Amino acid sequence: MPAQILSGKEVADRILADVAKEVDSLARSGCRPFLAVVRVGDDPASVAYVRGKRKDAARVGILSEEHTFPEETGQEDVCALIDRLNREEGVHGILVQLPLPPHIDEEAIIERIAPEKDVDGFHPVNVGRMVLGQETFLPCTPHGILMMLRHAGVEVRGRHVVVVGRSNIVGKPLANLLLQKREGGNATVTVCHTATPDIGSFTRQADIVVVAAGRPGVLTADMVREGAVVIDVGINRVEDPSSPRGYRLIGDVAFEEVARKASLITPVPGGVGLVTRAMLLWNTVRAARLAQE
Ligand code: GUN
Repeated sequence: MPAQILSGKEVADRILADVAKEVDSLARSGCRPFLAVVRVGDDPASVAYVRGKRKDAARVGILSEEHTFPEETGQEDVCALIDRLNREEGVHGILVQLPLPPHIDEEAIIERIAPEKDVDGFHPVNVGRMVLGQETFLPCTPHGILMMLRHAGVEVRGRHVVVVGRSNIVGKPLANLLLQKREGGNATVTVCHTATPDIGSFTRQADIVVVAAGRPGVLTADMVREGAVVIDVGINRVEDPSSPRGYRLIGDVAFEEVARKASLITPVPGGVGLVTRAMLLWNTVRAARLAQE
């Protein structure tokens, strides 16, 4: 039987409805959540992501502003802006869109953001809190994946989850959240990466496979067990002259063939990406709420 499709839109809409209620409640106490987005250069994917994030923000009543720098901007100029945004009381969340141009020290930029405004959950203080299981801003994509699994009624506890990819943004934090001893965790987790020989020998043992490798076709049908749950985090642009934009988006999973074997699968586009955006706004209202306390 072909897999059920787990729509990101459905999950994101539900989260955004909760966020909108929280925005209303904050507005009644005179606070309007505000997100500052920083972008350096003209990477088309980053431009599109930021546009999507701001569109969602506007939809739920969160104010946002975008600061764009030309590609050749130096480290000091970006740091100076972050320092200013850190000081501004009306700014609750700061997001620096990654990747940054190679001459900019990404780690130093992330560390410059005040941890209480780090709505991406990338600051080492917030990463440390997350690893320890403390209350903090959880990184949006891993948190979104947990929300999708919960929404679909997929029990994680006691299951074997194989994560393909070990990025700081997805693979590492997701593996961590899945193994934590609390609701949404308690999984047995294996992480595969570019130095793993025969990734299929691991993914074939998985109840749930999450692919965040950043390359199309990383997971094929022969690599999944019948009835597995498959979460595709990849967003890859491939040329497509028949599309009006000249390209189309595909995930890391060979969707058609894997969907014939899996029990549940997320699509690209329309999957994890939409929920990631919703979780960013969830973190932004949380930042605004904490600033009121
Ligand atoms: N680039 C790709 N994903 C992300 C994300 O979640 N946050 C930021 N800031 N940049 C990204």
